[in-house]
Amino acid sequence: MTYQEKKFDLPELEGISKKSVEEHLGLYAGYVKNFNAISAKLVEYAKEDTEKNAHALSELIRRRSFEFGGMRLHELYFAQFEGGSTPPTTSSALAEALKRDYQEYFEQYFKAIGLMRGPGWALLYWDKEAGQFLAGFSGEQHQGHFVTLPIILALDVWEHAFILDYGAQGKGKYIDAFFKNLNWTVMEERFSLASK
Ligand SMILES: [Fe+2]
Repeated sequence: MTYQEKKFDLPELEGISKKSVEEHLGLYAGYVKNFNAISAKLVEYAKEDTEKNAHALSELIRRRSFEFGGMRLHELYFAQFEGGSTPPTTSSALAEALKRDYQEYFEQYFKAIGLMRGPGWALLYWDKEAGQFLAGFSGEQHQGHFVTLPIILALDVWEHAFILDYGAQGKGKYIDAFFKNLNWTVMEERFSLASK
């Protein structure tokens, strides 16, 4: 199956420039394209001499989950800005669950995860089985995931997300801008689906 690049209806963001968003969307499109290209190549290799192509095949198999992670995580990321900045509804199930698990320190904790060194993503997952959140860091975009858990909030902390606006050392300022632009109704909807 071929994956299609999604389009996002993004408002002007506070503290994240249009130019940065445009370039970032270009990178996202690249993940979709590369995922499709690798998938097609794998079909060829699978039909051919797999022993002869073993090295190429294993490299592509590893590479493909990287591209898939880039594709899906950016889809989660950009969707969070659609509709414009909207604060969390204090009485929502998400706000109540976040307060139960993190009291007042969720944003501070999530920011600290985002500030971890190296390219990757700060991610908030919901574990329905345990009835609790797990916040974590995915190295690059395919490693370190809590497998099977749905993602409620996705923060891209690769340099490409902030270097244009804030320089190589501006990750903290970018994360502050990220939080300012979130439409929390998107995350509330994700949580509602994940906790059904
Ligand atoms: Fe990114």
